[in-house]
Amino acid sequence: GKDQWIMGIETSCDETSVAIVKNGREIASNVVASQIESHKRFGGVVPEIASRHHVEQITIVLEEALNQANISFADLDAITVTEGPGLVGALLIGVNAAKAVAFAHGIPLIGVHHIAGHIYANRLVAEMEFPLLSLVVSGGHTELVFMKEHGHFEVIGETRDDAAGEAYDKVARTLSLPYPGGPHIDRLAQEGEPIIPLPRAWLEEGSYDFSFSGLKSAVINTVHNAEQRGEKISPEDLAASFQQSVIDVLVTKTVNAVQEYKVKQVLLAGGVAANKGLRAALQEVFENSTDIQLIIPPLSLCTDNAAMIAAAGSILFEKGIRSTMALNANPGLDI
Ligand code: KG4
Ligand code: ZN
Repeated sequence: GKDQWIMGIETSCDETSVAIVKNGREIASNVVASQIESHKRFGGVVPEIASRHHVEQITIVLEEALNQANISFADLDAITVTEGPGLVGALLIGVNAAKAVAFAHGIPLIGVHHIAGHIYANRLVAEMEFPLLSLVVSGGHTELVFMKEHGHFEVIGETRDDAAGEAYDKVARTLSLPYPGGPHIDRLAQEGEPIIPLPRAWLEEGSYDFSFSGLKSAVINTVHNAEQRGEKISPEDLAASFQQSVIDVLVTKTVNAVQEYKVKQVLLAGGVAANKGLRAALQEVFENSTDIQLIIPPLSLCTDNAAMIAAAGSILFEKGIRSTMALNANPGLDI
């Protein structure tokens, strides 16, 4: 049969990305223009600066994605775009670009949820088998999502305060590490020992919710108390102890949910899925399992990118779901 070509557009935060995905699973191109250098000196993403960069980059990135895939607009079956959640001004640039090219070339338009995209990054690695559980850990989200079929998302647990990536970035700031801090903490953690006692928020018995603000505060207090006593804490040991606490909670709750929901697959998703410690811990837990398959995307598909949006959009396309020209950015969109 005829091949299916889907364009993905992602501008929810600080990456301008356009991708072309063939038949829902093959990446023909995945161009990502990162703005990290522009936000670094502010210690975080500045929404106004993000919007401006998206405006400057979107046309260039879009043309580059078509060039690399060696196709033209006429070949596209759909334009898919992140409609939310994210920064409203950033989302708007992608949504308006998608509407403009969809309208100009008469191509179907489909809005995609950013977290659905993170989960579907896994479909670019392996075929999804249901029921499955996805651990979504990013800068803005920490969620356990149960899926019994394509396009069905049941959030069985989520963070009550900070997202995992947010906690990583705040702890990194306390240790005077550059933004985004996750990869720096991860690197330090490999060189240290988890010997500093830090809390783990298990919450109520049976709960799949998370909480990381207490842990984050405990790290900050540990640093301040040491400073007041004139002592020096090993940043490596502190990073390792913090990372161990995060991983213990994420992995334990994932394993409990896997047992309760009797899933066939576990999918890791989101920027924090790039974490070496988390990847290794999950691999260790599931490596000897014959009935549960663990899927972990490569690093480039864990952080924000448009191929994941096209992969999720491909399923919506097949289900006959279309957006109208009234599609709008929705910063608080529910999955
Ligand atoms: O999914 P993502 O690219 O953007 C959001 O949708 O939020 O995730 C970004 C987050 C940041 O908080 C960053 O510090 C974190 O992912 N991150 C990591 C690692 N690489 C990125 N956290 C821990 N370890 C890493 N190796
Ligand atoms: Zn993301």
